[in-house]
Parts: sequence; C-alpha cells; structure tokens
Amino acid sequence: MTDKTAIKSIPHASPTSADARAARMENPGFGKVFSDHMVTVTWTADKGWHDGELKARAPFSIDPAAAVLHYAQEIFEGMKAYRTEKGIVLFRPEENARRLAMSAERLAMPAVPEDLFLDAVEALVRADADWVPGGDGSLYLRPFMFANEAFLGVRPATQYIFSVIASPVGSYFKGGYKAVSVWVSDDYTRSAPGGTGAAKCGGNYAASLVAQAEASRHGCDQVVFLDAAEHRWVEELGGMNVCFVMDDGSLITPPLGGTILPGITRDSILTLARENGLRIEEKPYSFDEWRKDAESGKLREAFACGTAAVVAGIGTIRFNGGSFSIGNSGDGPVTARLRSELVGIQRGTAADKHGWVRPVL
Ligand code: PLP
Ligand code: COI
Repeated sequence: MTDKTAIKSIPHASPTSADARAARMENPGFGKVFSDHMVTVTWTADKGWHDGELKARAPFSIDPAAAVLHYAQEIFEGMKAYRTEKGIVLFRPEENARRLAMSAERLAMPAVPEDLFLDAVEALVRADADWVPGGDGSLYLRPFMFANEAFLGVRPATQYIFSVIASPVGSYFKGGYKAVSVWVSDDYTRSAPGGTGAAKCGGNYAASLVAQAEASRHGCDQVVFLDAAEHRWVEELGGMNVCFVMDDGSLITPPLGGTILPGITRDSILTLARENGLRIEEKPYSFDEWRKDAESGKLREAFACGTAAVVAGIGTIRFNGGSFSIGNSGDGPVTARLRSELVGIQRGTAADKHGWVRPVL
C-alpha cells in the first residue's frame, strides 16, 4: 500500500472510562451503543483515496448540497469482530470488502481497495478492542461510503468519504434465539431485475421500511419480500437471507440472480450444510409452495441468516388472509446445528477448516 492510503492515528482526547464503557456494554441491544473511534478516508477524482484517519468518533460536517442527501449515493457493509480465547477475530472480512466493491460499481462509486478496507476495519478494531464484548456479544462493524460533493446535478459525485464505525451488540432480535415471525408483503417489493437488490445500498433499506413497519403492525419480526415480476417467488427478508430445510434432505434457498443480497452468512451456511450431507438447491421457491409444504410437513424447518441476525429459526408466517407455522417452535435440529457450527467457527471453539477467521489482535 502507498503512503497516500496509510491510516494516520490521531489520539482520542477523552476516551470513555472503563466504568462508563462497562455500563454501556452491559445490555447493548443492537446498534445503539457506539465505540470511541472511527476511521475516515476521502476520495476525490484528482487524488483518489487519501487522508485516512483513525480518530475520535465525531459528527460529520457536510454541505447541505452533498449528493448523498439528495440522490442517496451511499453503500455500506455489516460485519462483526468476536472475542475468542486466542484473541479478537473477524469473519471473512475479505468478502465484505469484495461486496462493498460490487456495491460501489452498481452505485457508480469508486471501489475501496481490499487492502484499504481491511486496514481501516482492523485499525478500528485494534483501537476499540476494549469495546469487543465477550460471551454472546460481538462488535458490529459498519463500513460505509457516501457521496460528499456539493452538487445538485444528477451524475456520479466526484468526492466521497469511506468510513468505519463500531457498535458493541447483543442479539438482533429481542427474544434471543427464539424463532422469529415473518410477514409476507403483498404491497411492496424490495428490488426488481436491473435494480439495486444485489447491492448493499442505503436506498434499498429506505424502500423496505414501510414494509417492515407493516410487518411490525402485524406483530412480526421481519418482512418477507417476494419477487417484483410475478409476486410469487420468495426472495429474502428485510435484512437477511432465507433457507428452507425439507424432509428429503435438501436445503432450498432462493438463487442469487441480481435481486437479492449475496449474504456472506448464506454462503457460509450453504458450505456447512453441504458438509452435513444436505443437498443444496439454489432454486426459486414460491410462497404457495412454502405454505403447502409447511402444511404437508414436507418443509421441516425454515430459517433466516445474516450477520446481524446470525441464524434465526422462522416459526410463524403471516400474510394477507391468514397465517401458518412450521413445526412447534420453528427452531429445528438442522437450524440449531448449522447455527452452532457457524458460531463455533466465529468464536474459535470449532476448527476453522475454510480459513474464514482472520485474527486481528
Ligand atoms: N439480505 C439483506 C437484505 C441484508 O441486509 C443482509 C445483511 O447484511 C443479508 C441478506 C445477509 O448478508 P450477510 O450474511 O452478508 O450479513
Ligand atoms: C447486517 O446483517 O449486517 C445488516 O446490515 C442487516 C441489518 C438488519 C442490520
């Protein structure tokens, strides 16, 4: 790496005291408590990436005409640092770097080189190592990039900020590992062919909020999106991918066709499931099949998976006109086993056969 992208460390003038930190980390929930530091790196058309800084977390000062505020040119990643017996580790961070680069391409933004991405994330984890919870917790890392040029014309901006912040987290869902309930949205879709569904851009989440709010009104934890063209095929949840465990030893998951986010947890789970002798079928699965298979017992288990959610069994499915359940709790033996294997690798209690774990400290 050249000096231009080296991340300069600027000491924090008043880091949080150990007592105050412990109090905030006691019951952190998800995404509400933030660590002391942040990383920022600037990109301009003439200089490329430069001015990388690790410094005290502070608000941005951006121009009211900054392109991100008007045209939502913004992308992000979600990943976690885990405290293990051997130190602090990241899980497949190279995949997050790659996905951010793919998202950047789709949103007409400059790619963050993988080395710079990893340097930025690791520098923040090292600086905020005390903020990595033990036990079931983890330090959720949020790398993100936004257009910072003051310009109201509609074209790709010529100035961007890449930043990383961190948040100690517990479980994403309130009930911990209890099966979650989902609402199948009739009125809203998340993405369409040719759209931004495979990119992790803020706009996708803005567009999903009204559907997620509808799910909450129906007492559900998450929304399920169907495809935009036929409104028939299950795609994914608002913030996680979905898998179905069948009675014939197969695991069905919707194929990556440009309209769903290529989850790193999804990919890891497919690998582990294959090793457990399950037959992986990445194929379209309709909501009608889901309902029929749940009723006939052909569908044994369904689960959601993602960085924030980890692996969460799906218990109840509600839709306009009714509801159905899978088994009694929705958290069946295959779901539990895949989760425990994944979490074991992430937390260093199971062998890392695939080289997924990257030590940081
Ligand atoms: N799908 C959506 C829409 C998401 O927001 C996420 C979370 O990042 C995922 C799937 C799962 O992706 P990953 O496993 O990489 O966290
Ligand atoms: C993640 O899992 O990292 C996400 O970005 C999804 C969101 C539910 C927080």
